[in-house]
Amino acid sequence: MVPSTQDAVRSLVEQGETEHLVFVASHQTNGRGRQGRVWHQEPGQDISFSVLLEPRNRYPDLLLPMLTAAAVYECVAKHLMHTRHEARIKWPNDVLVDERKLAGILIEAEGKKLWIAGIGMNVNRLEFPKELRAKSTSLTLLTEVYEDRAAVLAELLRSLVKLVTEAEDGHTEPVVAGFGKGLGLIGERVVVTTSTDTHTGVLASVSPGGVVVGESRFSPGEVRALVRAGGGD
Ligand code: BTN
Repeated sequence: MVPSTQDAVRSLVEQGETEHLVFVASHQTNGRGRQGRVWHQEPGQDISFSVLLEPRNRYPDLLLPMLTAAAVYECVAKHLMHTRHEARIKWPNDVLVDERKLAGILIEAEGKKLWIAGIGMNVNRLEFPKELRAKSTSLTLLTEVYEDRAAVLAELLRSLVKLVTEAEDGHTEPVVAGFGKGLGLIGERVVVTTSTDTHTGVLASVSPGGVVVGESRFSPGEVRALVRAGGGD
């Protein structure tokens, strides 16, 4: 048990640890979400880990949110393959099933070159705090069986290692393809929201080089929301 696996990795970096370190916690007492939010977990029920990555010149930093989301999506989609439930990636990198959040990802810079990617997945929890109840789910609520956390974690790490290895070899296509599949919006009419603007058009592609909607290209870093036109979020 640690307050946050993000902070655990940060202090190991201070002790000299380098890329590819994975820190897994059975429980976090102070898990952090994006935008300063709290990440709630149930002791011994969920998956939480952080991985230390150094893109260097091998792949763009902007690939990381896509890479981690694609890995989580692949793992979840495989796990739910024989069920009636469908996973999708919600921009930038939440993984939802039946429009409820199953997993979240927090990516934080560590110094100038390193990134700490933290992944949290609801695995065996049956209850959520009132404010999260209507918008959260867990694997066990979906499959109706008690899940083997270690097996799900192993599957998730396998997907992650595969995509990180490809990226480090200079191949970004598997990530771009996996992320696009999870997002499920390529070729659809979408609304892109940036801090200054909203723009509607057909989504042509999403990659670290840009979110291309019609004739316009947005840097992934400036896109706050990307949703199907007329379809809520
Ligand atoms: C979000 O959806 O807001 C991101 C949630 C990220 C949670 C994970 S759990 C492992 C790692 N440690 C943390 O404190 N947060 C991330």
